[in-house]
Amino acid sequence: MSTRRPTIGVFDSGFGGLTVLKALLELVRDADYLYFGDTARLPYGSKSVETVGRYAVEAAHYLEAHGAQMLVIACNTATALALDRITAAAHVPVVGVVEPGAEAAASATKNKKVVVIGTEATVSSHAYRKALEARGLNAREKACPLLVPLVEEGWVDHAVTEQVAGIYLGEAFGDGFHDADVLVLGCTHYPLLKPLLHRVAPASVTIVDSAESTAGAVATHLQELLPPPSTQQQENRTHPRLKFFATDSVEKFRRLGHRFLGHSTDDVQHVDLKE
Ligand code: DGL
Repeated sequence: MSTRRPTIGVFDSGFGGLTVLKALLELVRDADYLYFGDTARLPYGSKSVETVGRYAVEAAHYLEAHGAQMLVIACNTATALALDRITAAAHVPVVGVVEPGAEAAASATKNKKVVVIGTEATVSSHAYRKALEARGLNAREKACPLLVPLVEEGWVDHAVTEQVAGIYLGEAFGDGFHDADVLVLGCTHYPLLKPLLHRVAPASVTIVDSAESTAGAVATHLQELLPPPSTQQQENRTHPRLKFFATDSVEKFRRLGHRFLGHSTDDVQHVDLKE
């Protein structure tokens, strides 16, 4: 990678990865972004390793073919099930969300007990548990499949969502994990629930947002790969350019995209990926 202003490809099963793009836009301003949301084939969280791997590799190839010089796998499910497969198929550096999330949890915990919430597929893969145990931590993983549709419904501060989250977290923090001091948000949608989860989780718990941790990992990675910007380049800085690709309705992407990114997603192109 030789240009000071790289193009970063961000991939997700749909809209949720925009929480990772949002964190990237706050931390890594000196880049342009391509975002691929596989909205026609979501959710990934209930699919098999084989299917998620195949879909993710297709998306990675698409982003590379459109100029991505680094890939960020914003989808926790795709990272958990297929990071090795994507990395093997790609010709550019690939960053997933699990390792940065686990690293942030390791820094935050005092008693080495961590709860991770995610989709059914992420939890079944035990990718987070393995990454946390490799850092000497005890991990409890809990699938929370109802939270993704509730967030997509816009019910991020709704009594029903609070009740559902309360049941999930009650189970996750029960039975030997009542004193866990870190909660890892292992799904792209959960950052939108942070205020609600703070209310529902035990008071002493630190919430680790894997979107923010991943943006930090990308910033570090870019510093290693690229020369520091000259004073002239710093003065000439422009806003990141954003381009979005969606495999389903462009109109729906714009509508939900606004909710996840916090501002409009103007340049959205429909992509037809053949099976
Ligand atoms: N992006 C997925 C994740 O972070 C959640 C949505 C889905 O299941 O596709 O795991």
